[in-house]
Amino acid sequence: MAFERKAVLFVCLGNICRSPTAQAVFKKRSKDAGLSVWSDSAGTGAWHAGETPDKRAISAGRARGYSFAGQFARGVEDTDFEAFDLILAMDTANLNDLRDVCPEAFQNKLKLFLDYAPHTDMREVPDPYYGGEDGFDRVLDLIEIASEGLIKELKKMY
Ligand code: 4NP
Repeated sequence: MAFERKAVLFVCLGNICRSPTAQAVFKKRSKDAGLSVWSDSAGTGAWHAGETPDKRAISAGRARGYSFAGQFARGVEDTDFEAFDLILAMDTANLNDLRDVCPEAFQNKLKLFLDYAPHTDMREVPDPYYGGEDGFDRVLDLIEIASEGLIKELKKMY
């Protein structure tokens, strides 16, 4: 349908670093592009459930003008596979974990987020959790590129 509002779910492992960053970036950039798209994020693991995003992710993201307001970690739920139009994994381990639990009918919604950044040489957003501060800037660089690619694709659907 021409005016149906699309919904995108960003998924990583802990839902405190990469996928909240992806949501923050996509939320701002899609709004700036004039798109009305619902977005959320979740983790294949739920052990950080209820927590706000990692302080390092917030600090790196805020420095580029992104807001993490209202974000709290949660695990992926069965209902997500039907509710979202696109479910975008940050790395192949996340994608494989999603593939294992996603009903057959919705498997085509599962993709790597960097599929929308084909001109980079990266397929995965590297996990910054155990690394230094610069890892979070690298994550932001990749997420900004993929967000632009995703917005371009979504624009074709409206
Ligand atoms: P994320 O990063 O998947 O980008 O949120 C991680 C956060 C927490 C852990 C691993 C990765 N952890 O092991 O607690």
